[in-house]
Amino acid sequence: MRIIKIFDTTLRDGEQSPGASMNVEEKVQVARQLARLGVDIIEAGFAISSPGDFEAIKTIGAEVEGPIICSLARAKEEDIKRAWEAVKDAPKKRIHTFHSTSDIHLKYQFRISREEAMKRSVEMVRLARSFVEDVEFSPMDASRTDINYLCEVIEAVIDAGASTVNIPDTVGYGIPVEFGALIKAIHDRVKNIDKAVISVHCHNDLGLAVANSLSAALNGAGQVECTINGIGERAGNCSLEEVVMALRIRRDVFNADTNIKTEEIMRSSKLVTKITGISVQPNKAIVGANAFAHESGIHQDGLLKEKCTYEIIKPETVGLYKTKLVLGKHSGRHAFKTRLDELGYKLSDEELNIAFDRFKKLADQKKDIFDEDIEALISEEVEKIPEAYSLADLNIVTGMSQKPTATIKIKVGKDIIEKTEQGDGPVDAAYKAIASITNTKSTLLKFEVKSITGGTDALGEVMVSLEEGGRFVRGHGADTDIIVAAAKAYINALNKLATRKK
Ligand code: KIV
Ligand code: ZN
Repeated sequence: MRIIKIFDTTLRDGEQSPGASMNVEEKVQVARQLARLGVDIIEAGFAISSPGDFEAIKTIGAEVEGPIICSLARAKEEDIKRAWEAVKDAPKKRIHTFHSTSDIHLKYQFRISREEAMKRSVEMVRLARSFVEDVEFSPMDASRTDINYLCEVIEAVIDAGASTVNIPDTVGYGIPVEFGALIKAIHDRVKNIDKAVISVHCHNDLGLAVANSLSAALNGAGQVECTINGIGERAGNCSLEEVVMALRIRRDVFNADTNIKTEEIMRSSKLVTKITGISVQPNKAIVGANAFAHESGIHQDGLLKEKCTYEIIKPETVGLYKTKLVLGKHSGRHAFKTRLDELGYKLSDEELNIAFDRFKKLADQKKDIFDEDIEALISEEVEKIPEAYSLADLNIVTGMSQKPTATIKIKVGKDIIEKTEQGDGPVDAAYKAIASITNTKSTLLKFEVKSITGGTDALGEVMVSLEEGGRFVRGHGADTDIIVAAAKAYINALNKLATRKK
C-alpha cells in the first residue's frame, strides 16, 4: 500500500492562527507529541522570523527523535542561511523555501516578472541544496497560477535539486475536482516529476482543505501538509486528524495510508488546544467532544445491537477511551511513575516527588483518577515555569445574599502576602486580590473553564490569556475546586509574564 507522508505544520502555519503563538518550551512539547504521533516531517518554524522560532527549531532538532525537522525560508539568501543554521544539527533535516508564482501576487505584491520569480526560485533552491540534500519548494498561490508557467517552475526547481514540490492552495480557492486535476496535470506534464514527491498544502477558506488534500492524494500527491485541529492562517489548514482518518477508514478508495499512530490523535489534539488556547468546536470530526456521542434513540438502539450500525470509527482507534480508571487512593509511587512513563512524561526525581504529593492530595478528594487528571496534575512540572508567585492559601465567602469576598495568600520570594478583596463573583474577588498582591498591569483577555472528566468531583481546568506591554501569555490551573483552579491559572500566567520580562 502506498504511504502518504504527513508533513505537520502546526508549529509554523498553525502558529499563524490569531492568538496561537507558542514559546520555545511549548513548541518542544508539541513536537515531542508529534513524534509520538508518527508524523514524517515537522515544520518546526520559520527560522528568520524571530529568535524564538530559531531557538525552537534548533532545540526540536536536538531533542526530538524520529521525524525530519524542517524550517521555512522565503526564497532569499539570508532566510535560507538562517534556516540552515537552525536545522543543521538535526539528524534528519529539510529546508522548505517558497516564492509566489501567481500573476496576482507577482503583479500586486512583488512587482516582478514571471522570469524574475523563476530565477529567484531556482537560485534559492540551489543555495538550499548546497547546504542540505532534502529541499522542498513551494510555488505560493499555486492554485491561482497559470498552469503552463507553474509546470515550468516545478521542472526548473526539480532540476535545481528540490526533492519535494509542494502545491499550496494558499487562499483556499480550490475545489476538489479541480485541485485533483491540477495535481494530475503536474504529474502528467512535468518531465522530471519522478525525481520529486508532490506535496499539497491546502487552506480551509471554503471549508474544503481536507477534501482538496484527499482529491490530491487520489491524483498522485505523496505528501500532505496539515495541522493538528486544522489550526492555521485565517480559516486554518487541512486538519491532520481528518485527512489521516479518511485515508485509514477508506483505504479501499485511496489505496494509500499514512505512518500515523492514530491512537495518539486525541492526546495531540488536547495538547494543542491546551497550549494554543484554541478549542475545537464540539461537532468537529474526529476530535470534537460530540464526534462519538450518539444522541438519537434510533442510533442508540442500533449501537446497542451492533456497533457498526452507526459507528465507522472505533473511539479507541483515535485514542478516546471510555473513562478508563487508572489510579486511586491506594496507588503507590511506583504505579504513578509507571503510568507517567506510559503516557510519555519524563520527570526528574524532584518533580516526581512534587507531582506525587499532588496526586495523593487529589486522590483524597476524588475517588477515581484518570489519565486526563494526571496530565492536568503534572502540567506545571512539564512546563517548568519558574515560580515568582505561588498560591499559599485561598478563602472565599460567597452566596446569593452577600458580596463575594476572597482572602488570598501568595508566596512571593520568601514572604507570604495576604489580601482581601470583594468582587462581582468569587473569581472576580480572587482575581482582584491576586492583582493587588502582584501589582500586575496585565489585562485579562480570555477566561475559560471546563471539566476534565465527568462527575461533580471532576477536576476543573481553567485557561486564561493575559496581555501586558505587547506580551501575550496563557496560564492553566486545575483543581477539584474551580475557584482554586482559576487562581492557579491566573498565577501561572503571571509567572510566565515574569519569566518573559526577565
Ligand atoms: O499557504 C501557503 O502558501 C504557505 C506556504 C509558505 C507553503 O503556507
Ligand atoms: Zn499555508
